[in-house]
Amino acid sequence: MNKLIYLLVLFAMLDTSAQKFPGLALTPPLGWNSWNTFQTNINEKLVMEIADKMVSSGMKDAGYSYLVLDDGWMAKERDVNGNLVADPLKFPNGMKAVADYVHAKGLKFGLYNCAGTKTCAGYPGTRGYEYNDARWYAKNEVDFLKYDWCNTEGINAKEAYATMSNAIKTAGREMLFSLCEWGDNQPWLWGKEIGHMWRISGDIYNCFDCIKDHGTWKSWGVTYIIDLHKNIRQYSGPGHWNDFDMMEVGHGLNVNESRAHFSMWCMLASPLIAGNDIRGMDNQVQKILTDKDMIAINQDKRGVQAFLYQQKDSVDIWIKPLSNENVAVCFLNRSQNPVPVNYNWQLNPVADSVSKLNIDFSKELYKISDVWQKRSAGNTKKIFKGVVKPHDVIVLKLEGEK
Ligand code: GLA
Repeated sequence: MNKLIYLLVLFAMLDTSAQKFPGLALTPPLGWNSWNTFQTNINEKLVMEIADKMVSSGMKDAGYSYLVLDDGWMAKERDVNGNLVADPLKFPNGMKAVADYVHAKGLKFGLYNCAGTKTCAGYPGTRGYEYNDARWYAKNEVDFLKYDWCNTEGINAKEAYATMSNAIKTAGREMLFSLCEWGDNQPWLWGKEIGHMWRISGDIYNCFDCIKDHGTWKSWGVTYIIDLHKNIRQYSGPGHWNDFDMMEVGHGLNVNESRAHFSMWCMLASPLIAGNDIRGMDNQVQKILTDKDMIAINQDKRGVQAFLYQQKDSVDIWIKPLSNENVAVCFLNRSQNPVPVNYNWQLNPVADSVSKLNIDFSKELYKISDVWQKRSAGNTKKIFKGVVKPHDVIVLKLEGEK
């Protein structure tokens, strides 16, 4: 018996593979993150108001469970023991009190740090403190860690993220681990065992299709991020998602653009992390963010990212295979003009090598519902006719007539 225990312990010590918590993020995570709107201007009062609003707006009921504080929550220096310190002016009651408030609302709490020596905004980074910091997060009851990639000269991305993943596992509190290294080192090739989601791009910018030049770096409009990587959808799936970045819905985009942006993040099975100031959002933005039918497409258990089926007249047709051999189809209008759609299902069979979904609409009948209009759109026997508004979408859900 003793020998058996000895062998088991030895085996555990020799097992150096990364050890992310399994069973988390089996569907794409939903939440809110402070960065897009507030940058480092965050504090305890803001967190409490956001947590309250996540509940009162219906976001929590719609599935948004993580409230994540991004860069700027720390004091500029660690304490004498090397521990992280929450900024005492922004968080006068410490971070555990903040986590307690968020948890009492039935939400989960997330924090941000960075694999480098300093965070992107210049606060203490985790390099060399991985196990220490993971213990600190566990002690403060953190449920989600976003781990960035600034100031990482000379270190290997896979090793750095694996080390932090192991540190979290060792600290013993279940945490969702969000890799944020902007896709520079192809995390989709090695991140599956290490984390639950990985950014595939640099930072999003709150425009539909522009590129924002900041001098030494650029940030990217919604369509740019959609277009960036065409061949990585096979790496995304239950427990490990391609992350298209925090959303700009209701933050500088008009209503059509917000709806298109949200719909595409749902189609792409991206984590849905809102980035707007939800305290002041209008009814239209609230309706977009909490649309149960669109979120159901994002949360479909099959966990397959949509693919680009066709591009015609500035309208993209994206198809997302769903459970029970159903599909979601999104017509995305990239132009500034309304575009009519005349779509003959019979002439457009679906064959997806990733999900192995094959549909020949001339042999199989599907009923169609218009997801945003909340009405039936007939079935696949007849031609679908509609008009896609500028920078907007039509999303259809097709269910097989069994
Ligand atoms: C990087 C990340 C952003 C945000 C900032 C914070 O740019 O990609 O999402 O976390 O750092 O400084």
